[in-house]
Amino acid sequence: MTTSPRRYHITTFGCQMNKADSERMAGILEDMGFEWSEDPNNAKVILYNTCTIRDNAEQKVYSYLGRQAKRKHEEPDLTLVVAGCVAQQEGEALLRRVPELDLVMGPQHANRLKELLEQVLDGNQVVATEPIQIVEDITKPRRDSTVSAWVNVIYGCNERCTYCVVPSVRGVEQSRTPEAIRAEMEELSHQGYKEITLLGQNIDAYGRDLPGVTKEGRHQHTLTDLLYYVHDVPGIERIRFATSHPRYFTERLIQACAELPKVCEHFHIPFQSGDNELLKAMARGYTHEKYRRIIDTIRRYMPDASITADAIVGFPGETEQQFENTLKLIEDISFDLVNTAAYSPRPGTPAAVWDQQLSEQVKSDRLQRINHLVSIQAAERSQRYFGRIEEVLVEDQNQKDPTQVMGRTRGNRLTFFKGSIAQLKGQIVQVKITEVRPFSLTGEPLAVLPLPPTPSQV
Ligand code: SAH
Ligand code: SF4
Ligand code: F3S
Repeated sequence: MTTSPRRYHITTFGCQMNKADSERMAGILEDMGFEWSEDPNNAKVILYNTCTIRDNAEQKVYSYLGRQAKRKHEEPDLTLVVAGCVAQQEGEALLRRVPELDLVMGPQHANRLKELLEQVLDGNQVVATEPIQIVEDITKPRRDSTVSAWVNVIYGCNERCTYCVVPSVRGVEQSRTPEAIRAEMEELSHQGYKEITLLGQNIDAYGRDLPGVTKEGRHQHTLTDLLYYVHDVPGIERIRFATSHPRYFTERLIQACAELPKVCEHFHIPFQSGDNELLKAMARGYTHEKYRRIIDTIRRYMPDASITADAIVGFPGETEQQFENTLKLIEDISFDLVNTAAYSPRPGTPAAVWDQQLSEQVKSDRLQRINHLVSIQAAERSQRYFGRIEEVLVEDQNQKDPTQVMGRTRGNRLTFFKGSIAQLKGQIVQVKITEVRPFSLTGEPLAVLPLPPTPSQV
C-alpha cells in the first residue's frame, strides 16, 4: 500500500479522558482533510496520546516513539506528535530525548491541534504545555463507537493525592457550562448515540469553578444539578458518569441517580486503600468508614447497583496489616470490579521521595493476592445475573463470534447473545442470562424494547 501524505494515525494510552481527547483530535485532523490509518507505518502524521499515571505506562510510549523516530530519517516529511500527560510532564525534555519530534502538546491543548500543526507544517518544532483556559471545540470528534459516547464535563483536578501525577499534568479544574454539555448531548442524540458517559477526573467537583450560589449557599451548578438538567435529552437512553471521589459523594447525588430513570445503577468510586492511616498519607480526605457508609446508602436506594473501584497496593510504608485492611474492605463490600495497581513512584509527587518505599517483590506479591480476591468476588457478583432478564444496549458484533452481538447491562456488565448487528445496533434488548463469567455474561434475546425515534429520524 502506498503512503498517502494525508493519512494520520493516533495511538492512545491511558484513561477515558485521553480517549475522549483523542477522539476530538481525530475530529480536528479529519476536518483538516487527513484520513485515518490503522497502521502507523502508512501514516504521515503520527500522534501518540500518552499516559504517565504509572512508570510502565510512560515507558511504553518511548519504545513506540523510537521506532517512528528511526523511520523519520528515511521519510523526513513524517510528522511526529506526542500529546497527553507524558508530553505535559516532560515538555522540552522530550525534544532532547527524541529530537525527531515535531510537536509536544499537553492535554489542555488538545482542542488547539489544528493551529499547532499549522505551525509545524510551517517548519517549526513546537512545545505547547503552558496552562491555558481550555477552548470549546468546534469540530466534531471522530468517535470510536456509534452508540456510546464520552462527554467531558470537567477538565483537570484540584486534589493533591500524594501519589498522583494527574493534577500536575491536567491542570486546575475547569468545568464546561451546563448549556455546552447539553448541546453536545443533543448533537450526539441527532447522530444516533444512545448512551453518554459524563467524564471528569474528579467529577464530583463539577461546577465549583462556575459562578452562582443557591439560596442555601451551595454552588448552583453541581453534578446532581447537571444530571437533572441533561437527563431528558431526547434520544439519549442511558447516562453514566465517572470518576467519583468518596470525599464529595453526596446523598443528594444518590437520590438523583435513583430517581432519574436514564442514569444507570453503576458507580465507579475508587477507594485506593481500606486503611485509615494510609488514606491519610495519601491525602484522600475520607476514612474507610465513610466509604462504607456511601456504599450502604447507594445500596439502600438501589439494592442491585453495581459498584466498581480502584485500589493501590504497596504505597510507601504499607504494612502487611494495612494491606489486609484493604482486602477486608473488598471482602466486606463485594465489588463488581476493582482496578488494582502496584504503587509506582511518579516524578514531582510527594510520596515518590518518602522513605519506606516497598520492594518490587512485596508490591507484586500483594498485587497478586488482591487480584485473586477481586476475581473471585467478581465471579460471585456475576452469579446474581444468572437466570435474570437484563436490558442490554447493543454496541457491536462479538469479534470472536460474528453470529453474536455484544452490549452492556445497565450495571455495565459486558453481555453477548445471538443476533445480527445490522438489525440490533443501538437497540436495547431484553436478554435472559444463561451463562455467567467473572467479567461477562451470555444470554438469549427475548424482545427488543421499543425506543422513541431519535430526533434525526423524526
Ligand atoms: N481521579 C480518580 C483516578 C485517577 S488515576 C480518583 O481520584 O480516584 C486512575 C487510578 O490510577 C487511580 O484511581 C489509582 O488507583 C491509580 N494510580 C494513580 N496514581 C498511581 C500511582 N502513582 N501508582 C499506582 N497507581 C496509581
Ligand atoms: Fe489523582 Fe487524586 Fe485527582 Fe484522582 S482525585 S486524579 S487520584 S489527585
Ligand atoms: Fe494517564 Fe493522564 Fe489519564 S496520566 S490516567 S492519561 S489523566
